[in-house]
Amino acid sequence: MTGTSALPVLELTGIDKEFAGNPVLRGVQLRLYPGEIHALMGQNGAGKSTLIKVLTGVLESSGGQMLLMGQSIRPDSPLAAQKLGISTVYQEVNLCPNLSVAENVFAGRYPRYGWTQGYRIDWSTVHRRARELLARIGLDIDVTQLLSTFPVAVQQLVAIARALGVESKVLILDEPTSSLDEDEVQKLFEVLRRLRGEGLAIVFVSHFLNQVYAISDRITVLRNGEWVGEWMANALPPQALISAMLGREFAVQNTHAVQQRDAAQEVVLLETQGLGQAGRLQPVDLKLHAGEVLGLAGLLGAGRTELARLLFGLETSDKGSLQIDGQTAQLSNPADAVQYGIALCPEERKTDGIVAELSVRENIALALQARLGLRKFLSLAEQTTLAEYFVKTLGIKTASIETPIGLLSGGNQQKAVIARWLATDPRLLILDEPTRGIDVAAKQEIMEEILRLARGGMSVLFISSEMSEVVRVSDRIAVLRDRRKVGELPGGSSEDEVYALIAADHV
Ligand SMILES: Nc1ncnc2c1ncn2[C@@H]1O[C@H](COP(=O)(O)OP(=O)(O)OP(=O)(O)O)[C@@H](O)[C@H]1O
Ligand SMILES: [Mg+2]
Repeated sequence: MTGTSALPVLELTGIDKEFAGNPVLRGVQLRLYPGEIHALMGQNGAGKSTLIKVLTGVLESSGGQMLLMGQSIRPDSPLAAQKLGISTVYQEVNLCPNLSVAENVFAGRYPRYGWTQGYRIDWSTVHRRARELLARIGLDIDVTQLLSTFPVAVQQLVAIARALGVESKVLILDEPTSSLDEDEVQKLFEVLRRLRGEGLAIVFVSHFLNQVYAISDRITVLRNGEWVGEWMANALPPQALISAMLGREFAVQNTHAVQQRDAAQEVVLLETQGLGQAGRLQPVDLKLHAGEVLGLAGLLGAGRTELARLLFGLETSDKGSLQIDGQTAQLSNPADAVQYGIALCPEERKTDGIVAELSVRENIALALQARLGLRKFLSLAEQTTLAEYFVKTLGIKTASIETPIGLLSGGNQQKAVIARWLATDPRLLILDEPTRGIDVAAKQEIMEEILRLARGGMSVLFISSEMSEVVRVSDRIAVLRDRRKVGELPGGSSEDEVYALIAADHV
């Protein structure tokens, strides 16, 4: 599939980038061949997104050279890069859910009538061209519908359609699969293989190693802003890849949570009886013990997030009841939940999670301050101690705890969001896709920290699309499908057993 004998379509050499004197990229290289899928790998903060932004004109490099088909280029905006044939879907997808699909595909560059008609937008052309672009990636949907009415996977494909032009030679996808379930990833991969067949060079960034090996022909590894090497994917076993990313050996732990449980499991912390909400979640019975990790498994849209939001008072139930410590509890809003010692680390980092302009310290202290309310203000010294502890424990890569969090890499922002909720020392921690975008090594460290806290008595409700992670850390697994609970499995169950329950026709 890969044309090693052909000339690279794109070649970067000696790329430097610094922010206020801090080098983030040092002499980085990358070469892309037509008709290949190239994985760009590295730990959180290694410089992957920065390299992509330099390449696509979002950021200006401090040095180095970029050759497109042998010609030196220096795009000064994503639009300029797109005109050169370099199409990009960034890590933070910026689509507008309340615009139609067609509007999203063309926003900012609508085809217009000529001056005789006052340069009005030519909607029939917009709709026709949007349909054509989507057809290229095998998507046949009503382009006049609001984007928000489609699943995330479709939205992701719309982002690709928006990025692709007729002249595209290079397509760059920065963590495109982080919010997709397994089926949807397969659909995306079909599209990528089709585009590769058309001769596109595709750059793919992901922290899911299984996906990297399923789709990539070649792998480039960055570490600490430096180029480590380039390999054919089939010549670089996963262990060697991880070592290249880390610069040291690394053993994937397989210790199962269930072996470490103690008798604390007998104390029921929270119990729901027929808890539900019309149109969002069918009545659910659930028991959560102190010190237990309860995994919630299911496909996207199965109702996991809906249940999490009910338990955190973000939505109000209209059916059933909820007991905490054996007492009926009403959770009308998150403040109620916080008073009961419940914390929710939400799925959407950008909208529900970080406050980009505030510092890492302020972001970490935020939830604890809210829990303490007006009773007590955290002093600067207390906030500093807290932030420094979590920066160290979770390995958050930041210049300082005073750095605005928006300047951290995606994975490091996510770690700070987890830290914020751990800081409240909750009795029940609800984690909705907590390790999305987090690198292999950090993922393991975070899960170990969470298990350690659970062994200390904290209950955890753990939601993840990564089934391997769910079965590895859960003491018990509740399975949801079509917005209802379809069963429970004991800790130690296999991924296949969970999938079998998800796929079962009836209960
Ligand atoms: N605008 C900025 N100002 C200062 N530092 C920045 C800025 N943008 C990125 N950085 C720093 O550059 C480094 C590399 O970040 P980058 O986003 O490229 O990492 P990444 O490899 O994409 O990581 P992740 O896997 O977490 O997405 C990080 O340490 C980050 O804090
Ligand atoms: Mg990134």
